[in-house]
Amino acid sequence: MSVSKPGRDAVVLDYHRQSKHHLSHYADGPGTLDWDAQPNPFRHFEGAQRVNLALGADGLSTTYQQLSTPDTIVVRPLTLENIGLFFELSFAISAWKQFGTARWSLRCNPSSGNLHPTEVYLLAQQNIAGLAAGVYHYCSDEHALEQRCRFASDDIATQAIGQFHLALSSIAWREAWKYGVRAFRYCQLDVGHALAAMRYAAACLGWRVTLDVAITDREISQLLGIERKQDFIHAERETPELLCTISAQNIEAMPINVEALKTSVSSGEWSGLANRIDPKPMYQWPVIDVITQATEKTASDCIVSDIKKPTPLSPHPGTELQLSLLLQRRRSAQAYDGQTAMSRTDFLHLLEALAPSRDHAPLDTWPTAVQINLVFFIHRVEGLSPGLYALVRTEIDKADIQTKFNEKFTWDRVSGCPEAIPFYHLVSANAQTAAKRLACQQDIAGQSAFSVAMLANFPENLNMQPWLYRRLYWEAGMLGQVMYIEAEASGLRGTGIGCFFDDALHELLGLQNERTQCLYQFTVGSPVQDGRILQLPPYEHLSDRTPQS
Ligand SMILES: Cc1cc2nc3c(=O)[nH]c(=O)nc-3n(C[C@H](O)[C@H](O)[C@H](O)COP(=O)(O)O)c2cc1C
Repeated sequence: MSVSKPGRDAVVLDYHRQSKHHLSHYADGPGTLDWDAQPNPFRHFEGAQRVNLALGADGLSTTYQQLSTPDTIVVRPLTLENIGLFFELSFAISAWKQFGTARWSLRCNPSSGNLHPTEVYLLAQQNIAGLAAGVYHYCSDEHALEQRCRFASDDIATQAIGQFHLALSSIAWREAWKYGVRAFRYCQLDVGHALAAMRYAAACLGWRVTLDVAITDREISQLLGIERKQDFIHAERETPELLCTISAQNIEAMPINVEALKTSVSSGEWSGLANRIDPKPMYQWPVIDVITQATEKTASDCIVSDIKKPTPLSPHPGTELQLSLLLQRRRSAQAYDGQTAMSRTDFLHLLEALAPSRDHAPLDTWPTAVQINLVFFIHRVEGLSPGLYALVRTEIDKADIQTKFNEKFTWDRVSGCPEAIPFYHLVSANAQTAAKRLACQQDIAGQSAFSVAMLANFPENLNMQPWLYRRLYWEAGMLGQVMYIEAEASGLRGTGIGCFFDDALHELLGLQNERTQCLYQFTVGSPVQDGRILQLPPYEHLSDRTPQS
């Protein structure tokens, strides 16, 4: 079904309404779930040549504190071995878990329901020792690249020395299988987490990531080969999401030459047939196709950044924390102890890390106007009375924001909070019960140190640029990833909360304008481990494998 441009704003708002959870009922989803029928979380291209990747990222000495002084990070050369370490820290399996006979893998990048709709592709425009120029799909179960396209040597662009491209796509069915209509939101939040995950991994190697804002979705499809019907005959199709340039130098990447890459892929040699991830899909959610199409990026719109003053991040107060270990040990908490408070110093650092800045990873990758403000439900943070607080990230006038919220909120600057962090007290209250109730009755929202609601301003030009709807979720997902890593650095643990009662939350905050909406929640606290669940190493099954060189 094709959606005419003037109506796309309405389509977006309609999808947003349809995918809300309400206190009285949830957004449409499958009535029953058969876990044995979960779609395969691993995509493969049968017949494509495999390139095994190296492991060993724990040998990288970059510390978390060095994110505040990126110039001090040793810049690793662009080699196949370092590409292996980059994937190991961003999209690889980080552990296996086992409970009874059930066994499941976790990855460095989190995903709603651990369903992992995001697929990752690498495009190399130059020969990297051991890796011919071409298009590759990353398989996290094998920690290997599958060569989808080999470029003819005549086409290889020489201007792109020292950089490569990474692109993401989504297979929405992996999420829709469990979450129905709301699945599109989760796919987009996962993309945001993935973008931040790749930025953190790149930072570990001294590399930079630039999100390409000019490329269209159609062009991404062409470059990745996901528009090639003949390679997806019985397989679920993928939706293009984004493309980044990764520069293995501590300088800005050169702009992507899309035309040169298009020539390379059209004359290249393609191989591999996509596997089917679900042989018997039970439900249909046509609205997901509608919103996917309505938010397709069709034109290379120019985006203006509203980030005016780069503010350098202070070093994290923890002792020298090895960044690679933080990235690999990131997990979601299943439960919190309901007692431990977060230290004020750690909390202030987390606020600082969430403030928009061009100076430090991962938010330096965010090129567009910041659209998300945060409302915290503080339960246990040293030096802060329990209640609701706001971090104003957008540069809109505070008075303007204030008018949107409950008129009883005080908007007092929190004393002792650095001037550069616009953090306001709204109301004192024990907000644990409300936080839990609004997060679909999940205990994690009330038993933690805090939970937070991410409130997006839907841009006025959504009709002309409906793809900005996806960007709002990406921004929220990135903020979630920042909190996951900050929580780990503070000896605590985070958890994304995609399940919440949208309008009940808006009501509590006094928000009446449909253009300010909560897209995501997050919570941080001291985790309670479930001793019955065994944790196993990520790649024991590959222990006798030697990487190709
Ligand atoms: C977008 C998103 C939404 C999530 N929503 C919830 C949620 O509502 N409740 C919950 O307990 N966990 C939630 N999670 C946590 C995931 O279940 C978790 O990331 C996944 O099981 C993988 O585990 P890991 O984070 O330890 O790798 C969410 C994660 C993401 C990325």
